[in-house]
Amino acid sequence: MHLKSLSLINYKNFTSRSFDFDAKINCMVGANGIGKTNVLDAIYHLSNGKSYFNPITSQNINHDASFFVIEGEYLKDDRPEKVIISAKKGQKKIIKRNGKNYDRFSEHIGFLPSVIISPAYRDLITEGSEKKIY
Ligand SMILES: Nc1ncnc2c1ncn2[C@@H]1O[C@H](COP(=O)(O)OP(=O)(O)O)[C@@H](O)[C@H]1O
Ligand SMILES: [Mg+2]
Repeated sequence: MHLKSLSLINYKNFTSRSFDFDAKINCMVGANGIGKTNVLDAIYHLSNGKSYFNPITSQNINHDASFFVIEGEYLKDDRPEKVIISAKKGQKKIIKRNGKNYDRFSEHIGFLPSVIISPAYRDLITEGSEKKIY
């Protein structure tokens, strides 16, 4: 699976911004607060239907806006897949794949697997699998 491009409108600190990604390794470099983690969170959002860092959807809308749109263009099993998540204050979040609305978010979960590894989960990698995380 390859996330080819990501475009964000009013997602957190981004008002309008697009990114193209390589099929292998991508590095993001920039000053503190520029939005690197927010880009990762937008990708997580496309996979999991919600933010990793702040599951309260309205708080992920840019402070000066009333909606956000996250759009990802993927190649999966050699097929193009376009996923769009949009949220408007006071309305139910919408998730679409190739132009078609999902009835339930749960139908989408697992289609575009992604995880965020944060320092809080470091022990899962370095320690045994019985380690509990609180
Ligand atoms: N809803 C929002 N509206 C506007 N800015 C936001 C919102 N949520 C987070 N931010 C801003 O995003 C910035 C943090 O971005 P972040 O991705 O953590 O930066 P980095 O990882 O590059 O250090 C902060 O300046 C924060 O104020
Ligand atoms: Mg960061």
